[in-house]
Amino acid sequence: MPQRVMTNAELEEMVDTSDEWIVSRTGIRERRIAADDQATTDLAAEAVRDLLRRTGTDASDVDLLIVATTTPDYPFPPCAPIVGTMTGMDHVAAYDTNAVCSGFMYGIAQATGMVESGMARRAVVVGAETLSRIMNWDDRATCVLFADGAGAVMIEADGGEPGTGVVGVEFGSDGTGFADLWVPAGGTRSPVSPQTPHADTCIQMNGREVFRFATRILVESSQRLLAEAGMTIADVDLMVAHQANERILDHASERMGIDRAKVVMNLDRLGNTSSASIPLALADAVDTGMLEEGALVLMVGFGAGLTWGSVLVRWEPRT
Ligand code: UT7
Repeated sequence: MPQRVMTNAELEEMVDTSDEWIVSRTGIRERRIAADDQATTDLAAEAVRDLLRRTGTDASDVDLLIVATTTPDYPFPPCAPIVGTMTGMDHVAAYDTNAVCSGFMYGIAQATGMVESGMARRAVVVGAETLSRIMNWDDRATCVLFADGAGAVMIEADGGEPGTGVVGVEFGSDGTGFADLWVPAGGTRSPVSPQTPHADTCIQMNGREVFRFATRILVESSQRLLAEAGMTIADVDLMVAHQANERILDHASERMGIDRAKVVMNLDRLGNTSSASIPLALADAVDTGMLEEGALVLMVGFGAGLTWGSVLVRWEPRT
């Protein structure tokens, strides 16, 4: 996480909002914002170094690096080759994937498929964002929500027992909602020109519509995945869902009948970090002892696209 903490009190000075509104409507109390000289690859590289340290892995033993991000350093090249070089992974297979807040879930699925098929031996998947760079700091509907950060996991072939590692996945999308959460300008449909309003180069969101989608899909995707795996919510030891809004997580956990103590929540301190939110929540769960070896973990991402993705994992930490 970047060092710089931005509190709700600071936002009160910038836009017409209040700590009371932000906490009661979202659960967010503070968030991290990258320094001026920090970009997505800097945050991603820091997460990867931490992962290599924690797992005692030599960078040269990683043969696949996927960075899930919505906010790459440049339109191209992708972040992953740069992160690979920054962390000593010489000549690693490296690319970015972008499914916004579901991106980390897609990255996990891609890495798992490549490891299971033998195309890779040891993969690192990073979720990294510098959303503060595409935020309209005059728009109170979005600038109080999003933030910066990065997290990473390792997926490796260990010839393990069946039913360990990634147990199942469930993915989907609905492009009819593409403009419910987007950056309208800056791509090939609408390149930035001197006439482009600044607001169109920033995140814009139809909050109510996305809220409705998020609360529905979190429950539906989880239930479909559990049914396919022949399991029920009672089998899940920990739910790590995209940290978008405390009310979304409350609503979903109530409807699914999962004990609130099994639902990881760190958005009060980190806000919504898009593709970084699930790995950051996983890291918190490891550090606080919520996530233990052998736990069945249900991860659910949802967001712009609209996209969603759920992954069920039997957790096998190497540390
Ligand atoms: O990461 C991808 C997934 N993203 C999400 O899942 C986000 C989903 N959406 C949400 O979490 C919620 O819709 C928000 C937190 C964005 C907004 O909460 P809401 O309860 O849906 O509020 P609203 O948009 O219906 O706005 C209610 C009122 C409006 O005023 P009026 O029209 O009722 O007078 C807004 O203008 O709150 C106003 N408002 C604010 N007031 C103070 C909107 N933003 C703010 C703000 N401070 N920051």
